[in-house]
Amino acid sequence: MKHWRLDTDNQTLVLSSLDNRVPCLIYWGQKLPGDESLEDLIEASKKDWGDNLLDKVPDLSILPEQSANFTGQLGCKIRDINGQILSPHFIFQSEVVNNNLLALTYIDKALGLTYIASITAYSSNDIFALSAKIESDNPINMEWLSTPVIAASQSSNEMIDYGGQWGGEFRKQLTPWVTGVHMRESRSGTTSHANFPGLIIPSKACSENLGSCYGFHYGWSGGHRMIAEQLPDGRRQIQFGNTENSELSPGKSFETAELFISHSSEGLSGIGKAFRSHVAESIVNFSKDKLRPVHYNCWEAIYFDHNVDQLKEIASLAFDIGAERFVLDDGWFKGRHNAHSSLGDWTVDEIKYPHGLSPLVNHIQSLGMTFGLWFEPEMVSPDSDLYRQHPNWIMGDEDQLLGRGQLVLDISLKEVQDYLFERVSALLEVYPIEYIKWDHNRVLPYPDASQTRSLYLLLNRIRDSHPEVEIESCSSGGGRIDYGILRYAQRVWLSDSNDALERLRIQHEALLWLPISVTGSHVGPKICHTSGRELSMSFRAWVAAQRHMGFEMDPRELNSQDKDLLKSVTTWWKANRQWMVEASIFRLPSIDESVMAEIQVNASLDHFVVFVGQSISSKFSSPTPLLLEGLNPMTMYNVSLVNKKEINSLSKLEEGLLTKTLKLSGQFLMTQGIQLPKVFPANMLVIEGDIAA
Ligand code: DGJ
Repeated sequence: MKHWRLDTDNQTLVLSSLDNRVPCLIYWGQKLPGDESLEDLIEASKKDWGDNLLDKVPDLSILPEQSANFTGQLGCKIRDINGQILSPHFIFQSEVVNNNLLALTYIDKALGLTYIASITAYSSNDIFALSAKIESDNPINMEWLSTPVIAASQSSNEMIDYGGQWGGEFRKQLTPWVTGVHMRESRSGTTSHANFPGLIIPSKACSENLGSCYGFHYGWSGGHRMIAEQLPDGRRQIQFGNTENSELSPGKSFETAELFISHSSEGLSGIGKAFRSHVAESIVNFSKDKLRPVHYNCWEAIYFDHNVDQLKEIASLAFDIGAERFVLDDGWFKGRHNAHSSLGDWTVDEIKYPHGLSPLVNHIQSLGMTFGLWFEPEMVSPDSDLYRQHPNWIMGDEDQLLGRGQLVLDISLKEVQDYLFERVSALLEVYPIEYIKWDHNRVLPYPDASQTRSLYLLLNRIRDSHPEVEIESCSSGGGRIDYGILRYAQRVWLSDSNDALERLRIQHEALLWLPISVTGSHVGPKICHTSGRELSMSFRAWVAAQRHMGFEMDPRELNSQDKDLLKSVTTWWKANRQWMVEASIFRLPSIDESVMAEIQVNASLDHFVVFVGQSISSKFSSPTPLLLEGLNPMTMYNVSLVNKKEINSLSKLEEGLLTKTLKLSGQFLMTQGIQLPKVFPANMLVIEGDIAA
């Protein structure tokens, strides 16, 4: 019998195999005592059965195999180059075991195949990262390869994952466990708006801040497949991997991206805590000591209508409100006057910018702001010099359906990689660009893992030669948000919806997966361009202030009242951004679904801010008390409403938080909760607490 145990600070994972075959995950959850007998644990996990089909319950191993008589979804699907199915029978070969790494190698001599499962434990973040690799003596076609398969909890009724769409990402959906397969797959060749690669399996008793649940995230930007299967015997398995059949050529080595998993005994918030800290500390390359600057992005102000004098005026106004980085979005390069031309021609448009970008950039710098530039390198417009010169550089057929009038470049071609590297680098050399908004606005004509690997290579090359340049991952908003791209990017553009109401919801859901520091959020135009809604400046500004703040409206549209208000919220954000990056964050559930609230508490628990978003009209005539989280119960806090004057309300009460700073204990705030003012929908209450002297 073989067994292996890996621990993080609060979790244990145990694998075992009885007979040199691929092992099973027999335990993953809260940390087990150091002296737990793994032999007894294995004994206690043996399965009885009552059917007449096989003389043993076939193992649900980390690579379920046909050759082990497993009748559910298999862990890999391989064919030889003649199309013949290969059914491996893997036998233990070797192991690498150290404190936080386990690598197990299995071979099938007859087929010339090697399977390597790797698990890394990130102790302090309570994350395990799992990946799988198959090597072959002869070229093979890899149709499907799962990361080491997780035998999932049988004490859960449902699964949480996400649908979504352009402008409406992160739509939470609940799916009951029933016999059969629940499959999620992005076949667009990108992570996609509709298939965020995350899954949560809550136990029956799990709530926001209590109970056990299991979280999964697959870190790959080329589209994934997730299989959650309940077998007829009641066991459940979770598989994650690259989209099926996205390896288009035979090869001798194939590997999955990493699957990040975390168990929480503190409800959904524990999952959020683990994933956020892991992303911030181990994935995103951004120094803790650096401040996130307030962005100004000109897209929704001018679209393709670039004019240097007007842009200078906009920059001055944005700076006056508090912007620190000016981002020149789409429309600056040769011939780009609408969305239907010029992608690929990465030189500055001489009509719009007769003296290059320098006059604008110099102005931006003279104000004290830094400069960022938009690119969409992986794409080409049929109406472009690049396409005319290299029509064979595209992915897919010539007569394929265009997306936003554009085609996708095959960046796995060396000449395409070199061209893009040279073009982007040339601009980085000439102008003081400290930030790239890296866009990707159409789906691929077919899923292709090599395109994603090539993207990572290109990004790596650019980051290597310009390590100081930050990158934001944008794909028509949130179409490419995952922990794969976050190794190369420092920020994500969560959505193309700058509608603060929609954004409030998206931010609320995405909080379980993304640190606030990487989550871009901009104050959009007065009348929202994606919803037609008109929302108050107070609401728009505070929703942006929950994350990495920026502006995207035309500042010339602001009246003096809105301008002052935005300026003061921006000043507040700048004063608080540093501790907020490291804050403990909890979403605050309420029986009133019209409220979407969260608290951010500093590391020493002596300061906090609560954002209470009123999304729709409440079903109650009086607001329900809001229970806070994460405070020191014995600390007395001075609690006050920061933005009293901004609130639109039906409020009749002229007491409580509306008029006074209240001195309240953490205990009271977390157990009884505070009474909130009655506000109209699309209002944000901002409540601060400070340790009382
Ligand atoms: C889609 C992005 O999400 C927008 O923010 C903007 O950059 C446009 N592309 C530009 O074409």
